[in-house]
Amino acid sequence: MAIISSKKQPQEPNGQPKQRRESAKAPSNENILQPEAAVDEGKQEESIRPQRFADYIGQKDLKDVLDIAIKAAKSRGEVLDHLLLYGPPGLGKTTMAMILASEMGVNYKITSAPALERPRDIAGLLVNLKPGDILFVDEIHRLSRMTEEILYPAMEDYRLDITIGKGSSTRIRSVPLAKFTLVGATTRVGALTSPLRDRFGLVQKLRFYEVDELSKIVLRSAQFLQTPVTEDGATEIARRSRGTPRIANRLLKRVRDYAEVKLSGEITESVASEALQLFQVDPCGLDWTDRRMLSVIIEQFNGGPVGLETIAAATGEDTQTIEEVYEPYLMQIGYLSRTPRGRVATKAAYKHLGFKPPNEQLSLL
Ligand code: ADE
Repeated sequence: MAIISSKKQPQEPNGQPKQRRESAKAPSNENILQPEAAVDEGKQEESIRPQRFADYIGQKDLKDVLDIAIKAAKSRGEVLDHLLLYGPPGLGKTTMAMILASEMGVNYKITSAPALERPRDIAGLLVNLKPGDILFVDEIHRLSRMTEEILYPAMEDYRLDITIGKGSSTRIRSVPLAKFTLVGATTRVGALTSPLRDRFGLVQKLRFYEVDELSKIVLRSAQFLQTPVTEDGATEIARRSRGTPRIANRLLKRVRDYAEVKLSGEITESVASEALQLFQVDPCGLDWTDRRMLSVIIEQFNGGPVGLETIAAATGEDTQTIEEVYEPYLMQIGYLSRTPRGRVATKAAYKHLGFKPPNEQLSLL
């Protein structure tokens, strides 16, 4: 079984789970994986992560919806409905699940679909859940068919159906489970099977962040990192962060290194822009691969339409990364359009890369 991370809430004397405490005790499971973040600056990452809605900047609509769901569930003394969060990577799906646990005053376990290969992986997790617990499954679109089928009765009736024996002597034994909340996260909501998608009571999208929201996130993170940053410095980092807090925090750390090594340490607008130029992050937040994708479409295919596979071959990225990581932001800022015949670079993309936009009449956009 593979649990990536888990956190326990202490119990109140009335048996209700208390608000979250600091220590995270991993249950005794084989193959417990370390969180991905633990490999790279993990501790810092954890301390920067907001713990409550009050600290979470942005995603107002989502917070409003969840706030109502939490209050309603609490007032009825019920568990929260199963929740599916979708959207591009780095927008805070895991953070949101942790905050939900915190706001509900329950424990959470975090895992990822690729870690639930065998039926016994998910079965082991489910039987260990306590009432109200949140089970967070990242990349839920990658669940195996067997694991998915185990989840159906678990989500619907809090029941684990175990198949015993083979052939004509096969029997199904049902084990009752604690009422729990499944929080699934995916970058590809369209890749979920409809029976799985239909079992989530709440399906919510995370959106790209505005520059002013990211700027606040950078200022907040800089405080945790004890790094001096001006408002303009934070805004410059925010502008180049592709609407994504994870990128904003990553760029903040790189700019901090630059400011400490080359200059006085304070991150001003000019320091941030110099540093990010050095790291090849342009004023719109585009990196080498974004620019290469667009310039391939413009220079080699007359602006498109061109197929995903061709773009992948030209940039050396795999098609999935292009679809899930690069394209959403390029489409969001209006540089790329997906058409039934392939990808098309927009006039704004031409201008950004310094190419002359095609003749108005010939232009597809
Ligand atoms: N760090 C990463 N994402 C954040 C958010 N949405 N609010 C505050 N801090 C964050």
